[in-house]
Amino acid sequence: MLVLGIETTCDETACAVVRNGKEILSNVVTSQIDLHNEYGGVVPELACRRHVDLFLPTLTKALNDAQVTLAQIDLIAVAYAPGLIGAVLIGLNAAKTLAVVLQKPFVGINHVEAHLYAALMTPPAFPAFPCLGVVLSGGHTALVKINHIGDYSLIGQTVDDAIGESFDKTAKILGLPYPGGPYIEKLAQHGKLGTYAFKPGKVKGHPLDFSFSGLKTQVLYAVKGQNEREAERILTEQQKCDLAASFQHTAFMDVVDKALLAAQQENCQTVVLGGGVTFNKQLRHLFQLYASKLNCVWPLGELSLDNAAMIAGLGYHVFSKKGGGDSLDLEAKSRIAFAR
Ligand code: KG4
Ligand code: ZN
Repeated sequence: MLVLGIETTCDETACAVVRNGKEILSNVVTSQIDLHNEYGGVVPELACRRHVDLFLPTLTKALNDAQVTLAQIDLIAVAYAPGLIGAVLIGLNAAKTLAVVLQKPFVGINHVEAHLYAALMTPPAFPAFPCLGVVLSGGHTALVKINHIGDYSLIGQTVDDAIGESFDKTAKILGLPYPGGPYIEKLAQHGKLGTYAFKPGKVKGHPLDFSFSGLKTQVLYAVKGQNEREAERILTEQQKCDLAASFQHTAFMDVVDKALLAAQQENCQTVVLGGGVTFNKQLRHLFQLYASKLNCVWPLGELSLDNAAMIAGLGYHVFSKKGGGDSLDLEAKSRIAFAR
């Protein structure tokens, strides 16, 4: 089955063609980072306009790269939630239009669920279920029990900022471009741990929930001081590196510790990770170091970041499980419960 995947939930316009849920024939991601960089974050109105401009060229490239025509596509899978509502609507309406014109079924896919599926696209076989899912993206941070593909139980989640968001906010404090995750990773490579003693966020009574906003504030205080009248410190390059290293280490050890606890609690030997933050090499290294007893399944390279291959891949399974496509009145949603 050839599935066309469409992803427009935030600031990436993406189309991909995937065969039978795993074989990626093309995966085209057109980034808008240059557009949003000067504002220090995604401007929804600009993102929507850019999606409209980029959609057809991105679709054409995905079909050309895969060497298929639209007539050969069997199913259209589209991210219909969660995301910036205007941006989601553009991809969803494009998918519905293609479905009507081509007389093909379409399915709506949960973008966050697809981030976990991305890790499962590479290994030849799926791991034994249940396993632990760890979502670490710019909009979401969650621990879920993956009972099967499409069947999840929520174990823990962030009560404030998502981990990627805290990387982006910390980067802004350090004067780095958006999105900040890759810049923090780079600085942290040259930083010393221990210069700054940051503490991970704890949620009273919920040991598997996350809180990242306090960590970002600790960085802010380290840079600006707690008194508003205090002059902002001019940081040396080394101080920036040390701050980045301590911030990153504190955030990641929090994730490792909670993943270990959740895996033990849920009796899972395998951990499936996904979302933009899993692109970070130091995160992978820390799991290797401190969670070596767990079988960690990571997305291959760019599949960590927003892409449409993961949407097409998961679409194949969702369609098979449902035994059909969605109806044309499927609504775009900015928020959606990921798991029961
Ligand atoms: O999953 P994603 O591409 O989009 C969402 O669904 O949110 O995640 C984007 C997030 C951003 O916050 C970005 O700063 C972060 O992933 N990110 C990273 C790295 N690359 C991207 N965070 C840490 N280290 C990285 N190398
Ligand atoms: Zn994403």
